[in-house]
Amino acid sequence: MGKDKLKRFSEIKTFENVIQPKLDYSSVDFLLKGKWSDVFKNDNPIILELGCGGGEYTIGLAKHYPEINFIGIDIKGARLWKGAKNAIDENLNNVRFLRTKVDFIEKFFGKNEVNEIWLTFSDPQPKKPRKRLTSKLFIDRYKTFLKKNGTIHLKTDSDLLYDFTMEEINNSNYSLLKNIKNVYKESYSKNSELEKILYIKTFYETMWIELGKTIKYISFKI
Ligand SMILES: C[S@@+](CC[C@H](N)C(=O)[O-])C[C@H]1O[C@@H](n2cnc3c(N)ncnc32)[C@H](O)[C@@H]1O
Repeated sequence: MGKDKLKRFSEIKTFENVIQPKLDYSSVDFLLKGKWSDVFKNDNPIILELGCGGGEYTIGLAKHYPEINFIGIDIKGARLWKGAKNAIDENLNNVRFLRTKVDFIEKFFGKNEVNEIWLTFSDPQPKKPRKRLTSKLFIDRYKTFLKKNGTIHLKTDSDLLYDFTMEEINNSNYSLLKNIKNVYKESYSKNSELEKILYIKTFYETMWIELGKTIKYISFKI
C-alpha cells in the first residue's frame, strides 16, 4: 500500500465527520440507526449519496442546501478521506461520511429517517443485475428507511444502468419525476434550481465527460 494511502487511513480515524463502524453489519443494527438527528444535533432532513467516492456530490449539495443534512456512503476509506477533508476545510457541519457496504444499508437507517437518495455513477454491474443499486433488491432495502414520497436520483453515464432503471420504474409502477437524457445538452429550464444541482460534477463524471460520454439523469419516487 502506498505511503499516501496509509497516511489517509490513519488521518481519517481522527476526522469527526467520518463514521467507520467496526462490526460486520450483515446481521446487527448499527447503534445510530434511527438516531442520526443526534449526530447532526438537529432534525433537518437527511439525504444520502450511495457510492459517494470522493464525496463531490455530497459536498456540492451540502453547500447549496445548508438546512439539509447529507451523508456520503462508500466502502473505500481513501476516497472518503478526500470528501471528509474537503468538508472540514469548508466548515460544512451538515455533512458526514459513513464507511460501509451499501449492501447492508437498511441496518444503518430507521423507518422514515431518510428523505432522498442520490446514486452517482454507480457501477452498472453488467453481469449481476441484482447488484445494481436500482434493482428491486436494493429498492426494497431503501423502502425500509425512505420517507413516503422520498425521491431517488440517479446520475449516470451508463446506458445499461439508465435503461435498466427506466424498466424498473415502468414495471414496478414507481413515479417518474424527471428523465433527462443529456444533462449538458438538453434545455430543461436553464438557470433553474435543478440545473445548478445537476451541474455539480463528480470525479468519475469528469472522466466520462472527457471521454465524450453522455450524462443522464432520472429521478423517481418508489
Ligand atoms: C464508479 S465509482 C463512483 C464514485 C463517485 N460517485 C463518483 O462519481 O466519482 C463507484 C463507487 O462506489 C463504491 N462502491 C461500489 N460498491 C460498493 C458497495 N457495495 N458499498 C459501498 N460502496 C461501494 C466504490 O468504492 C466507488 O467509490
